[in-house]
Amino acid sequence: MSAEKKVKSQDELRLKLDINNVFAEMIGQEHGMTVEELEEAKDKAVEAHQNILEAEAEGKMGFMELPYKQKEVVEELKQTAEELKDKFDNFVVLGIGGSALGNIAVQTAINHPHYNLFKEERNGYPRLFVSDNVDPEGVKALLDKLDPEKTLFNVISKSGSTPETMSQFLVARKFVADAVGEENVGEHFIATTSKDSGYLIEIARREGMKKFFIPDNVGGRFSVLTPVGLLSAAVTGVDIDQLLEGAAYMDQICRKSDFWENPALVNGLVQYLAYKKGKVMSVMMPYSDRLRDVADWYRQLWAESLGKEVDLQGNMVNVGPTPIKALGATDQHSQAQLYMEGPFDKIITFLEVENFAEELEIPAAYEDLNGLGYLGGHSFAELINTEKWATELALNKRERMNQTVKVPEVNEFTLGQLFYFFEFQTAVTGELLNINTFNQPGVELGKNYTYGIFGRDGYQEKKEEFENAADHKDDLIL
Ligand code: PA5
Repeated sequence: MSAEKKVKSQDELRLKLDINNVFAEMIGQEHGMTVEELEEAKDKAVEAHQNILEAEAEGKMGFMELPYKQKEVVEELKQTAEELKDKFDNFVVLGIGGSALGNIAVQTAINHPHYNLFKEERNGYPRLFVSDNVDPEGVKALLDKLDPEKTLFNVISKSGSTPETMSQFLVARKFVADAVGEENVGEHFIATTSKDSGYLIEIARREGMKKFFIPDNVGGRFSVLTPVGLLSAAVTGVDIDQLLEGAAYMDQICRKSDFWENPALVNGLVQYLAYKKGKVMSVMMPYSDRLRDVADWYRQLWAESLGKEVDLQGNMVNVGPTPIKALGATDQHSQAQLYMEGPFDKIITFLEVENFAEELEIPAAYEDLNGLGYLGGHSFAELINTEKWATELALNKRERMNQTVKVPEVNEFTLGQLFYFFEFQTAVTGELLNINTFNQPGVELGKNYTYGIFGRDGYQEKKEEFENAADHKDDLIL
């Protein structure tokens, strides 16, 4: 007989940030921070907070509007999801970077780990594939296994011109057109893009595709809570209202200007100070398969937002912590050795799930074998968290800076909080680093070289640069 699960209130589902292990009391004077240090720097963080709120008032912090300003589009997304149910077997996202990573993180966190494999886990919703690379084998292997008549592609590109996404679109378009005829192509595609600019919107109009829009003031890596992430979520049965509700709940916390009342502000500063103390690698290590891809999403958010050549005044600064993703307990047998004994250059953020949806008891057996018998009677939930606590303690003993975000349970509400918390924290750390958190000139440069090499009009200069650089290359190919 299973006991009925008590529905938790929003406050019971609030994320908690435990920063005890960044302090000298826990990890020693040499590598730890002091509360005084934080107190001294806190005015800077409060100023950063004010700047963020002012920028929001000027309409520049689009991600902060998302929990509240999407009522109409959310209804449309949910309706679309219901219309697609039982109509298509496969829903394929074509996108890259901020147009893909959030989709994957939501799917992994909320749906059954083998959602695509088992029809009964899908409740009439289509399988979900996120195709975010241009490896010819990967693209071909996916298309080879799909029935074009039963497949819908969601092409996601804010700029509407990213070569990886658009070349995937072109091959998918042909794949569909060959099967259903040119005149029906539009019914197999949705375009998620900017309303007024880029080629994708133009194509969507020509082909009569359904369209969803990415707000101009929300950048790719901050867009998981726009139609970018919400459509594939809704189409696979995820409760998108709860995702946004969780984000709104966290937004209220992040708006607090009292430093110690605002964990995103505290952590934005902790991460900044850690970086200044030489902890230039920021590891995220969830002890949860469900949260594995949140670490991947965060890696992009942190890297693309904070890795910058110039500061806001245009001075060369070349800053940015390097984000690393890890998975507990798996990576205890891969990365942990380095974290324990390698250079003192990391701050590790654990994500700890307080209540797993499954306990899964370890059966008692071989009780006469000392080194095995002790396992029986415990649960996997106990084991994974015990391993996390043990790793944390071992890191403390080795004077390694670490902290934990506690997640009461993994569901849409807590996932919405996680997304928003880390987005806000990123904005704070970016302000403290005095850089533009929301641009990505480095990514753009790479894109422009690709355009040049592929012969796109207007990029001839980039092609020449590439050809000149290529002239010297042979000497050093051994
Ligand atoms: O965060 C970002 O801005 C980038 O990672 C973009 O999401 C990525 O480059 C894809 O761009 P687009 O959505 O324009 O195709």
